[in-house]
Amino acid sequence: LTHLLTLEGLPKDQIVHILDTAQQFVSVTDPSREVKKVPLLRGKSVFNLFFENSTRTRTTFEIAAKRLSADVINLDISTSSTAKGESLLDTIDNLVAMQADIFVVRHSTSRAPIEIANHVPPHVHVVNAGDGSNQHPTQGLLDMYTMRHFKRDFRGLKVAIIGDIVHSRVAKSNIHALTTLGCEEIRAIGPESLLPSNLDMMGVKVFHSMEEGLKGVDVVMTLRIQKERMEAGQVPEGAAFFSQYGLTPARLALAKPDAIVMHPGPMNRGVEIDSAVADGPQSVILNQVTFGIAVRMAVMSIVAGN
Ligand code: CP
Repeated sequence: LTHLLTLEGLPKDQIVHILDTAQQFVSVTDPSREVKKVPLLRGKSVFNLFFENSTRTRTTFEIAAKRLSADVINLDISTSSTAKGESLLDTIDNLVAMQADIFVVRHSTSRAPIEIANHVPPHVHVVNAGDGSNQHPTQGLLDMYTMRHFKRDFRGLKVAIIGDIVHSRVAKSNIHALTTLGCEEIRAIGPESLLPSNLDMMGVKVFHSMEEGLKGVDVVMTLRIQKERMEAGQVPEGAAFFSQYGLTPARLALAKPDAIVMHPGPMNRGVEIDSAVADGPQSVILNQVTFGIAVRMAVMSIVAGN
């Protein structure tokens, strides 16, 4: 694996290898353990290029790179020469000239990380940290890690994904990975306007009612409405969305009693999720964030050839 750009078509053994490698790093990411660092990326430079905002992904990539002993450079896009009109690929060429080894790229344009991967010299690696509404592969992998941690096996697993799936790169990466790993049933719940038209072809069951879609599922994943990818007139009104599709304790009770609740963040409480659920005993939302460090360590060490 030279780059990680998408989970579409990534073979099962590769996904499992990344999850197993991440599992070995969990002790490294646990502050209560003694070993804090491994030397796998010593002497390498990781450049974080976030052309879109981020809290979780950017920070956990930085922590992961530092735990691998890499040098980390966080380019501040807002004060970079991008604002003076420098093109994306000219920026990349200049950073390669500064001896970049790994680019971690988030961009509002779908496929921008692919364009970069096709441009860089062979010794440079690109990891997609979210491109438009296309893919967010490391989020998909940390979500698979979280499900495997709490549910052990993908066989027999029923997963419901709720809300703005059409604009969600997280949902798409999850659907590809869950399908590859042999998940029994993937459900999409939401209004027609927020669901892609090709879900049937992807093997996903479509529901427009929370009451129907949540029955008997093992994993409930709810998503933020991505206002930034919509025209002003398309944005659903928050209270109206919550009344139909908000994840409340009463609706969660329709899932299996031991169902876990996931959300990639950032959450909009009172829109897609009730605080009683987000902070409740079935929520593993902050576990997802923590596992993201080990998963990103695994991805960067594997693409860099370790
Ligand atoms: N899940 C996720 O991508 O969060 P951030 O936008 O904060 O990185």
